[in-house]
Amino acid sequence: MATRGGKVTGDASPRVSVSGDIEVSTYLEIAEAEAMTVGATPAVAPEPLAPATVRDAVAILDFGSQYSQLIARRVREAHVYCELLPHDVTPERIKALNPRGFILSGGPASVYEAGAPLIPDFVLESGLPILGVCYGMQLLAHQLGGTVASSNKREYGPSMLHQSGDSALIFKGLPGSFGVWMSHGDKVTQPPPGFEMIARSDNSDFAAMADGQGRVGIQFHPEVVHTPLGRDIIKNFVYKVCGAQPTWTSGNYIERAVADIRTQVGDGRVICALSGGVDSAVAASLIHEAVGDQLICVFVNNGLMRREEPERTVATFGKHLKFNLRVVDAADAFLGELAGVTDPEQKRKIIGREFITVFAKEARSLGKIDFLAQGTLYPDVIESTAPETKAASKIKTHHNVGGLPKDLPFKLVEPLRYLFKDEVREVGMALGLPEDMVWRQPFPGPGLAIRILGDVTEERLEMVRGADWVVMDEIKAAGLYREMWQSFAVLTPLRTVGVMGDFRTYGNMVALRMVTSDDGMTADWARVPYDVLARISNRIVNEVSGVNRVTLDITSKPPGTIEWE
Ligand code: XMP
Repeated sequence: MATRGGKVTGDASPRVSVSGDIEVSTYLEIAEAEAMTVGATPAVAPEPLAPATVRDAVAILDFGSQYSQLIARRVREAHVYCELLPHDVTPERIKALNPRGFILSGGPASVYEAGAPLIPDFVLESGLPILGVCYGMQLLAHQLGGTVASSNKREYGPSMLHQSGDSALIFKGLPGSFGVWMSHGDKVTQPPPGFEMIARSDNSDFAAMADGQGRVGIQFHPEVVHTPLGRDIIKNFVYKVCGAQPTWTSGNYIERAVADIRTQVGDGRVICALSGGVDSAVAASLIHEAVGDQLICVFVNNGLMRREEPERTVATFGKHLKFNLRVVDAADAFLGELAGVTDPEQKRKIIGREFITVFAKEARSLGKIDFLAQGTLYPDVIESTAPETKAASKIKTHHNVGGLPKDLPFKLVEPLRYLFKDEVREVGMALGLPEDMVWRQPFPGPGLAIRILGDVTEERLEMVRGADWVVMDEIKAAGLYREMWQSFAVLTPLRTVGVMGDFRTYGNMVALRMVTSDDGMTADWARVPYDVLARISNRIVNEVSGVNRVTLDITSKPPGTIEWE
């Protein structure tokens, strides 16, 4: 069974993949199953990615490596636009992108396997630079007349690379020998005609090759952090070999996105559900920049947010940024529906359904609305060739746009669908959004309801809010906030005996959940210094009435999930 971001695909679990906060999409996902049964219709998805002809671009062909996205991020970090495309991409798609060169990712296949994915002929015949990484290099060798030896023995881990002769363009400015990360079984034993070996490793005489015409093969992975000079190699490829200019900057992006939104929206009206998180905030800001008050933001206070969170969101967008903001206080409705519900999945379903009800009612009251803004990010639109992500992205794309009632057939505006999360943050900063919002840790759509095990009541919400406040405060004070994917408190249904002053207490137990992660799909519990833990525990027990014990969750994901429900 495939999993992605905590969502187990193929069953009815409403847990979702999340690359930050995608609350609104989440609500839509959660609500979908039920809404569909009452005649919901999916919103109209936008066209596939627009061609990026006005800027230099690189096409990355995905042969199924677990690092493919990382290659794309490295190229973007070099401020060159790139797209990650399936290895069997059509010539039309490539023509629309108009790339300066190609990067072929690694992949799990062996070139001799029946049905092994190959480089399309039109790519080889394009005359454009090509960088083949690992399996990509083996394909270059195999398809251009060299030899690849298949091997059952993998070379996995750090290795030293030694350049031969003068530095090849791809290694310009790099030392004669440097550390790289290998992860391969097969290897090139004879380069194709016209290619020269440009580096060897301790394990292979042919660790890198080039033909002097811009076609380069490297056996190692420049995209991973374990190849410390990997970023320079990627920069050399895109700047020196492809001749691309570093024009992909947040400033340029904003200018282009704003122009595109104006064209797409015309004089139509756009509705956007703000959540307080970075994705919806940046999406809304771009749209606001483009069409001003044609954008109407809706902020639904579901009563399940953290202390001062609704107030902060309203202050930022309504007062400070002067957005056309509608605040719907639906706390009573949500809490009413949740009363007495203890099953985690049931809670999620109720919250999703309630959100749709409230949001749809607000949307209807606004008259004719043409577009719905969504904070979909690039990782969600990539058609990856890795088998399980291919299926998962499809399911997700479908789910993201489902769930709204039939009489609200919005078209979608998705101004972040070209961006990785770190780029969203850069754009957010460039747009002048508060740092707090831009760097906010992910917060789940169902909010504190899934951090209170058992019944969700006002009293228990106040308890978990108090504990969460202390965790945030101390983690920020210790300078650990950005290092951590998430840090929060969970209110358990357990009560334990304690002693305060000279009195016996019988209070609630709180658990601390603090994890590091790159994307929420896997996570490890954070090794927070003991003195920080001590301060958190001490303050929670003293400041949060009703809590008399604090425990620490030391479970990684898998097997645990990040949230407790
Ligand atoms: P789990 O608990 O599945 O969480 O390991 C992975 C990431 O997803 C977040 N999460 C959610 N986010 N709606 C969201 O918007 C949800 O229903 C939801 N459930 C979990 C969680 O906070 C973590 O970052």
